[in-house]
Amino acid sequence: MGAGAQARRPVAIARGARTNLALLGLLALAFVTGWLAFAFGTIPARWSLVVHAAGGFAILALLPWKSMIARRGLDRPRPGRWASVLLGLLVLVSLVAGLLHSTGWLVYWGSLTAMELHVGAALAAVPLAIWHVLVRRVRVRTTDLSRRGVLRAGFVVAGAAVAYAASEVVVRATGMPGAARRFTGSYEAGSFEPALMPVSSWILDEVPHIDPRAWRLTAGGRDWGYDELFAFDDRLTATLDCTGGFFSTQDWSGVRLDRLIGKTTGLTVRVVSVTGYDRRFPIERAASLLLATRFGGQALDAGHGFPARLVVPDGRGFWWVKWVTAVEVDDLPHWWQPPFPLQ
Ligand code: HEM
Ligand code: HEM
Repeated sequence: MGAGAQARRPVAIARGARTNLALLGLLALAFVTGWLAFAFGTIPARWSLVVHAAGGFAILALLPWKSMIARRGLDRPRPGRWASVLLGLLVLVSLVAGLLHSTGWLVYWGSLTAMELHVGAALAAVPLAIWHVLVRRVRVRTTDLSRRGVLRAGFVVAGAAVAYAASEVVVRATGMPGAARRFTGSYEAGSFEPALMPVSSWILDEVPHIDPRAWRLTAGGRDWGYDELFAFDDRLTATLDCTGGFFSTQDWSGVRLDRLIGKTTGLTVRVVSVTGYDRRFPIERAASLLLATRFGGQALDAGHGFPARLVVPDGRGFWWVKWVTAVEVDDLPHWWQPPFPLQ
């Protein structure tokens, strides 16, 4: 190595460290804001996604710098290099799938949605990213927080925000399918046409086929049979917005939860599926929740939760427990559950 190259190297490494640190912050930001958006079925989801998307564009902007660091790193024969390459592939898949979803160029990919691919690749990247960062520690130095460093970071953030805003304008101005997205980023599918409503379940839940004569619902201190429940006709028009990337509005009918549980004391109402899947709600919400047996005037089908499913206005799809078998009241706080189901 010549003297000139040696003199240049520390500067290159310092730059690399800044890029790596910025990437670390942006990846964490994308992850947190993505999940935050899934946690809301209301307007905060949009704000979270604006930050999320701008962060995604900033990651894209850093890729040329990161590829220089990666090339330099790959020249060193260190163990585990290929795990870093796999990390790179997963982040790229997630970025591309996110953009395909948002533009609408490819919303469905076989039985997967682009959104499922987007989140799935990001989840798979997490352990690799943690390992990558732990094994290649980057020291934070005061020079990283120098005026120039902060200014440069500001440029990347501002550039990413402008690129994101421009992409949204282009999507709308050119009438790409993405222009029709809801504020959660989801696409309309089969509204008021139950037969066309997509079927989707949380990660590991499988559709059970239930015999209505054998099925029982436990609620309000007694058991209910299917015909008894079917006789109720409380109605609600509500939108199921699935984290898989679609939404569907239907006319639901069944029985309001407060009517089922009757007069009772307790903090939470817990709705349990035959699969063991469950979600808790503050008891004050019982009057706004519906245990539906019908949508669009017809009985639910197995995929959509037959014999009975919960309808949660303004709650993302994973709150809408399907194949309900028990509605219980207890004294645990409603937040005493994982923010997202684990099964
Ligand atoms: C988008 C996420 C990232 C991807 C795809 C990625 C990918 C890579 C690849 C392919 C290499 C070269 C092979 C290797 O050394 O294992 C590398 C090297 C490296 N990465 Fe990352 N990386 C990412 C994020 C990060 C972050 C967040 C940090 C630290 C905060 C980091 C720190 C480093 C360091 C220190 C090297 C070694 C550079 C050298 O030896 O000259 N990387 N990265
Ligand atoms: C590697 C981590 C991630 C990166 C780099 C990333 C990046 C992106 C990008 C670039 C977009 C397209 C933005 C646009 O053009 O509107 C996007 C969209 C989206 N991402 Fe992520 N994302 C990541 C992880 C996640 C996770 C873990 C979730 C959810 C748990 C998530 C949820 C979403 C949603 C809902 C959209 C759609 C936004 C819309 O259409 O308006 N992302 N993401």
